Amino acid sequence: MILPTLEATPGTRRHTRRVIYELAESIRERDQVTYDHCRRVAIYVNRLARFMGWPRAAARELALAGLVHDLGKTWVHNEVLLKPAALSQSEREMIEKHPVTAAQLLWAFDMPDTILDAVLCHHERWDGRGYPKGLSGEAIPLGARLLSVADVFDVITTPRPYKAAMSVEAARERIREGAGTAFDTGVVEAFTQMLDEQPAFLLWAQARAFDEATHDPWAAHDSGE
Ligand SMILES: [Fe+2]
Repeated sequence: MILPTLEATPGTRRHTRRVIYELAESIRERDQVTYDHCRRVAIYVNRLARFMGWPRAAARELALAGLVHDLGKTWVHNEVLLKPAALSQSEREMIEKHPVTAAQLLWAFDMPDTILDAVLCHHERWDGRGYPKGLSGEAIPLGARLLSVADVFDVITTPRPYKAAMSVEAARERIREGAGTAFDTGVVEAFTQMLDEQPAFLLWAQARAFDEATHDPWAAHDSGE
């Protein structure tokens, strides 16, 4: 696979949203669990970006990246994607292609570079031990650093075929432990502060308030700001 190197041509925001929502719908048709995960991550990352002072438009664009960040998993066989046990080396390699697959699709649809970069790099780690490129520190696009914390928070706090859900408090601790190794310390500080200042039940309430009909991750709670 070739990593995208050309500049994506930014379409209008409306065009971008339409394409992302169609791609999100393709995730839902393929695997509801992955879709629900993407939906919650979109909400969390939008809130986190706003909490960190991002302008609303930039936070929304990052939410769109969250909505399709695991799009590449729809190209992985069901036996691997839904396997309720540990993966073999070759199966893990198949799964680990998903950020590149998604970035290639987004590139083909002329999605903005900011969305493409966040999706491509959401499994990079601050210490350089992530994938697909092994980027480290500030070489990882900022949006991807936010996405990675929101992604892991949701994975920890929701059940999977191979593990039970952990509490928000346990997830908070795990994310704190990853500051400076898996995650950007500044992003971890902002995220934990957001959890402290905004009771966790609000996050869950907002996840449920997501507009299923339009895939819109912010309509239910971002108006009037
Ligand atoms: Fe992922």
